Amino acid sequence: MGAAGASFLTSGRPRAGGRAGGAASEILLPIPNLVGSMSVEEALSRRRSVREYLRSPIALSELSQILWAAYGVSEVRWGLRTAPSAGAIYPLKVYAAVGEGGVVGEGGWLEAGVYRYLPRRHSIVLLRRGDVRRGLYEAALRQDWVLNAPVSLVVAAVYEKTARVYGERGRIRYVHMDLGHLGQNVYLQATALGLGTVAVGAFDDDGVREVLGIPEGETPLYIMPVGRAADLHRISREELAEYYSRNRSAPLAP
Ligand SMILES: Cc1cc2nc3c(=O)[nH]c(=O)nc-3n(C[C@H](O)[C@H](O)[C@H](O)COP(=O)(O)O)c2cc1C
Repeated sequence: MGAAGASFLTSGRPRAGGRAGGAASEILLPIPNLVGSMSVEEALSRRRSVREYLRSPIALSELSQILWAAYGVSEVRWGLRTAPSAGAIYPLKVYAAVGEGGVVGEGGWLEAGVYRYLPRRHSIVLLRRGDVRRGLYEAALRQDWVLNAPVSLVVAAVYEKTARVYGERGRIRYVHMDLGHLGQNVYLQATALGLGTVAVGAFDDDGVREVLGIPEGETPLYIMPVGRAADLHRISREELAEYYSRNRSAPLAP
């Protein structure tokens, strides 16, 4: 592991999990794990919006897993994804704003910057160099978790892709339903890895666009800061049973 500031892109040899042979700015991510140590029931019960993170980086393998959970390929004939999408159109784009010393791989630190996730290659491409977290925080109405998280995913939509097929219904319903599925995948995967995230919808669209360099035709919808959770929420079956019992003892509302 190198010192913070040393660059993953400028250290190590081109290989899987390092630079791609062809493009200097493409990072091939490790192949995601398909088996984990937390059940879906446990992840559901422990998921919370987490707004405080330890001051430690996340691993490149964790970023890889989160991106795959968000919008990765889980079927290879048609390239279907981990998240359902109306008409399998996949109108969403996933960006990662990586802070200085925010993500560490076996070959060193991932260079701070803005990356775009390429689901079919399971890679990220560097679009903009430098730590943009302060700009993103300003655009996100100064929500501290956007400044403090080692990395933030930003999800943008190309409304036209879905609207072309489904018209207004696609534009005002389906794209947002797609986003919700992606968002929940990120929440659950983060929880299963001992990481935390929060879906942030309150921000200045043009500000986020500018900070990330999001192209025309894409609308940012979510910022999802990701960091190591200081503490994961926990609830016991007994607590749940007691809660339901209390509510069941009240008269049934008509
Ligand atoms: C569409 C949407 C927008 C949200 N925007 C923000 C936000 O801007 N900032 C924030 O801190 N949390 C935001 N949240 C998180 C909610 O506050 C959170 O989900 C809610 O309080 C319930 O808590 P839980 O996620 O821990 O169950 C948003 C959630 C959703 C679904």
